[in-house]
Amino acid sequence: MKVIVCKDYAEVSKKAFEVMHELVTTNKKAVLGLATGSSPIGLYENMIKDHKEKGTSYAECSSFNLDEYVGIDQNHDQSYYTFMHENLFNGIDIKEENVRLPYGNSEADCAAYEKSMENVTVDMQVLGIGSNGHIGFNEPGTPFTEETHIVTLKEGTRQDNARFFEDDINKVPTHAITMGIATIMKSKKILLVASGANKADAIYAMVNGPVSVDCPASVLQNHKDVVVIVDEVAGAKL
Ligand code: F6R
Repeated sequence: MKVIVCKDYAEVSKKAFEVMHELVTTNKKAVLGLATGSSPIGLYENMIKDHKEKGTSYAECSSFNLDEYVGIDQNHDQSYYTFMHENLFNGIDIKEENVRLPYGNSEADCAAYEKSMENVTVDMQVLGIGSNGHIGFNEPGTPFTEETHIVTLKEGTRQDNARFFEDDINKVPTHAITMGIATIMKSKKILLVASGANKADAIYAMVNGPVSVDCPASVLQNHKDVVVIVDEVAGAKL
């Protein structure tokens, strides 16, 4: 695991962009694994700026997102489908038919998402990390063998996300569909970005703790190509 500690979020985003840029310029058909949440927004902003100013193209790239809420329409303003279009897809030239997010609430929907990834290898999976160490919506306790599945969101995670639902936890969906840890681990490379003091314990446990379902991100110690980019406060306990 390579850990890069940056001064602040702007530098985290710039460094993450450099890793992304290297991939998409050396492999025009790169398959990207993408995440939502606040952590990758700066990376996505850099990608959009560079696409507009320097013409880096994503026309032959494809993408698979980590997760989506259950029970809200794809076009809901807080769906991850909407988030990805507003924060990345609408600003670059990736083709709509080449972007995929999981969707649905049944085992068949989960199996269908896994099937859509059956013949591809994700070249690089972008991840954020929850303050409890979750990756995707794989909360502590999730077996590392899980593929795409439906999860019941922990109260703490719903509280963390209430800020996007008018600060009303009752409006935050109770379930999500997420790539499992086994799905995430198949990616050739992992790029995890984090910032903020509330991530410091999770970052410490991911890097230095035992590999344990208590901190889902600790499984990344078993992956052969992981780049972790954090700001000084998120990396303060390392
Ligand atoms: C998002 C996702 C989540 C977030 C995590 C951190 O697709 O899967 O695991 O990466 O909750 O969220 P932020 O970046 O908002 O702190």
